Amino acid sequence: MTNSQTIDWQVLLDRAREAAACAYAPYSEFPVGAAGLTADGRIVSGCNVENASYGLGLCAECGMVSDLHRTGGGRLVAMVAANPEGEKLVPCGRCRQLLHEAGGGDLMVDTTRGPRPLRELLADAFGPDDLLARQADHPEGS
Ligand code: THU
Repeated sequence: MTNSQTIDWQVLLDRAREAAACAYAPYSEFPVGAAGLTADGRIVSGCNVENASYGLGLCAECGMVSDLHRTGGGRLVAMVAANPEGEKLVPCGRCRQLLHEAGGGDLMVDTTRGPRPLRELLADAFGPDDLLARQADHPEGS
């Protein structure tokens, strides 16, 4: 994100709410949408998609991260999850880890308590840097 890029949280919330309207959640009846802003100014979104084999359900954030890669990749700088009424929801634990991969600790996540950096929601996160550090310690073939 450039310094000149401001985050329009209302637009993101509107997009999350729109995405939630597309959710496939016949089992929980708890539709969720997620919308994120990328470093190059795109908005990506996703909705939850459940499955008759309950444990296979996909959270809205999963769909959003897929949309991130489908539309050109890059980094997420801000995101929000919401229900179809536009009420904000906090990402579940697994999705916090997904978001960390896509945006790192600086990713701003809007919550009912306002925007917060992901590092506050997922402290001391395991991430790509941990693997890279390990590879540097143990180069292939050594
Ligand atoms: N859900 C999400 O889509 N994102 C979250 O961060 C929390 C939970 C979905 C999963 C499931 O389809 C429904 O909400 C109820 O848990």
